[in-house]
Amino acid sequence: MNSNGKNGSNGDYAAGGEPILCIRNLKKTYMQGKIPLHALNDVSFDVQKGELLSIVGPSGSGKSTLLSMIGLLDRPTDGSVFINGVEITRAKESEAPRIRREKIGFVFQHFNLLSTLTAMENVDIAMRFTGTSKNRRKERAFELLSMVGLGDRLKHKPSELSGGQQQRIAIARALANEPAIILADEPTGAVDTKTREVIVELLKSLSKKGQTIIVVTHDMDVARQTDRIISMRDGMIASDTGVKGNEEHGL
Ligand SMILES: Nc1ncnc2c1ncn2[C@@H]1O[C@H](COP(=O)(O)OP(=O)(O)O)[C@@H](O)[C@H]1O
Ligand SMILES: [Mg+2]
Repeated sequence: MNSNGKNGSNGDYAAGGEPILCIRNLKKTYMQGKIPLHALNDVSFDVQKGELLSIVGPSGSGKSTLLSMIGLLDRPTDGSVFINGVEITRAKESEAPRIRREKIGFVFQHFNLLSTLTAMENVDIAMRFTGTSKNRRKERAFELLSMVGLGDRLKHKPSELSGGQQQRIAIARALANEPAIILADEPTGAVDTKTREVIVELLKSLSKKGQTIIVVTHDMDVARQTDRIISMRDGMIASDTGVKGNEEHGL
């Protein structure tokens, strides 16, 4: 795992140090005919290395739009996203795939694994085009799958595994290139309650090891287990338990 979290200015958050992620005055406006729809309306916050942050809010409040700006899947109308001090929102379009591959690990509700590939191959493929040797890729895929408890399922295809096992492969894949941030959009949305707890425990243990993770969820039982909850409404932050003055682990 990267450990380049610099210690410098005293931040507002318990973890201190320079934030791994800075979001400044982020706006995204979609035109619906002639009517502007402000999907994100001046959103700013910082995330420290190793934080496990959840983003909650009603459908349409801008959660997925926010993740797609952080993950450089789309560009804001205004404002900036900095990862480790680098403004990714200024990157050239031709640079975007490399930045996504190196800085971000994505986890989706429906796992998005490649159905014809084995667990090993699904993790390995994330490391293609990174200059990692074939042997090293295999070694790392094995390490990661063992870490998520699937060391005995390496050659299984997604259809031969449960939803929880598939999501654990997706998490191993997301970790493959040691991303600065993992972005998970409803990672427990398609699994049962017991499996949900396995996934949440895995995210918690990764965060304890220093992995920064942002989870979008509508499930308050998941959100309550994270370090910090940002609640969105109409494209704005309605509350943030990580800001001084707000109650810790509240809502
Ligand atoms: N590509 C798009 N074009 C037009 N409107 C969009 C687009 N994506 C999202 N929206 C609108 O932006 C708002 C926020 O959407 P979204 O970020 O998906 O919310 P959430 O993930 O919280 O449900 C919604 O009103 C949605 O309809
Ligand atoms: Mg959404």
